[in-house]
Amino acid sequence: MIISVIGSGYVGLVSGACFADFGHEVICVDKAAEKIEGLKRGQIPIFEPGLDELVKRNCDEGRLTFTTDLPSAVQKADVVFIAVGTPSRRGDGHADLSFVYDVSREIAASLDGFTVVVTKSTVPVGTGDEVERIIRETNPSAEFDVVSNPEFLREGAAIDDFKRPDRIVVGVTGERAREVMTEVYRPLYLNQSPILFTSRRSSELIKYAANAFLAMKITFINEIADLSEAVGADVQDVARGIGLDNRIGSKFLHAGPGYGGSCFPKDTLALVKTAQDNSSPVRLIETTCSINDQRKRSMSRKVQEAVGGNVRGKKIAILGLTFKPNTDDMRDSPALSIVQALQDKGAAIHAYDPEGMESAAELMNNVTFGTDAYEIAQDADALVIVTEWNAFRALDFTRLKSLMKTPVLVDLRNIYGRDELERHGFSYFCVGRPAQEIR
Ligand code: UDX
Repeated sequence: MIISVIGSGYVGLVSGACFADFGHEVICVDKAAEKIEGLKRGQIPIFEPGLDELVKRNCDEGRLTFTTDLPSAVQKADVVFIAVGTPSRRGDGHADLSFVYDVSREIAASLDGFTVVVTKSTVPVGTGDEVERIIRETNPSAEFDVVSNPEFLREGAAIDDFKRPDRIVVGVTGERAREVMTEVYRPLYLNQSPILFTSRRSSELIKYAANAFLAMKITFINEIADLSEAVGADVQDVARGIGLDNRIGSKFLHAGPGYGGSCFPKDTLALVKTAQDNSSPVRLIETTCSINDQRKRSMSRKVQEAVGGNVRGKKIAILGLTFKPNTDDMRDSPALSIVQALQDKGAAIHAYDPEGMESAAELMNNVTFGTDAYEIAQDADALVIVTEWNAFRALDFTRLKSLMKTPVLVDLRNIYGRDELERHGFSYFCVGRPAQEIR
């Protein structure tokens, strides 16, 4: 089976490399010549654990190639995956589908023999219909089917998620495409990963509904965290207590500074827009979006309280800038809102992140970046953990105490315990766990 993947960004590259690893012949396409040249030399443009070895191995074994030549890649392919970006459109929050529609036109012109065209990009309900219309209009004699096959990859764990998915969702309109997609995923099928075939529209909605549900689950526990603080309960016990109920499940119940990243903020907003356009509002998701936006900024208040009510002129050391660990992705990271809010209140920000400082430097002003936790802690009034990188899970608090102006830790990811920190002479502030249980 020959698979071409159009768009060698995060999703395209991970999918292409994994399909090649299944034994398929894969051609990854991108119009950015520099990126393709780099990939040919083994330079991976994103940080994703394990991806460089996977790409190298499959290139060496001749199953994975890179090109800017879309027409010939499409001509050869049995299956063409569209994996280009669908950013939020400026101004209205709708997903911007111009890249998807542009490549659909280009694909149409080069189709040769029956080809399955698959949208892997996250696209609003009805996009598959439009892609089909565009292809038919551009090339009326083309033989093709348009399929929806959303991805559910987490950054930092994408390869594992691809190879051991909870499920594969495929939205098809015909039997022929269904057979081809069964072949594409046969290796996973043999691993007993369930494949769910649905209509194309259902498949498109599944992706948004899944992300919105997860965003809502995080937002729910974040509100329960605030309530826990107010009533003297411990949100981690509450999360454990409710998560053990199989109907609820224990995952995505970790309270923190709010969700960020390339998917949840953008996809929840796009779902809200689709729902409004169809006069069927999703009010739970509308509320989720606004609670999460407010939450990110409001985390600065915790820091303010921790340093005695006013951050003006204080040095605040921020540990972790990316929206979560094991990625260099800063998109919609809570750190952006927290740092901005602290700067607005007059704080001097010093920050360290193992992978995200390069992109952070482009997005943040007046931040002094350091080389590790200890360097930025020097003379700091408070240390704030924003992202739970492993490197921050075993900090040397004796050393930190000797470096800092005042030993204050604001742990927005609850990776430490109060007793432990107080033993080290630190004042400890966290999320949803009160200083003392109220009796
Ligand atoms: C998410 C989905 O998990 C994935 O299926 C989809 O394809 C893309 O969006 P990703 O954005 O990579 O993946 O990260 P994820 O691990 O899901 O975390 C998203 C955000 O939620 C992060 O900011 C994270 O810190 C936050 N989060 C997650 C919490 O605050 N608490 C939790 O319990 C889980």
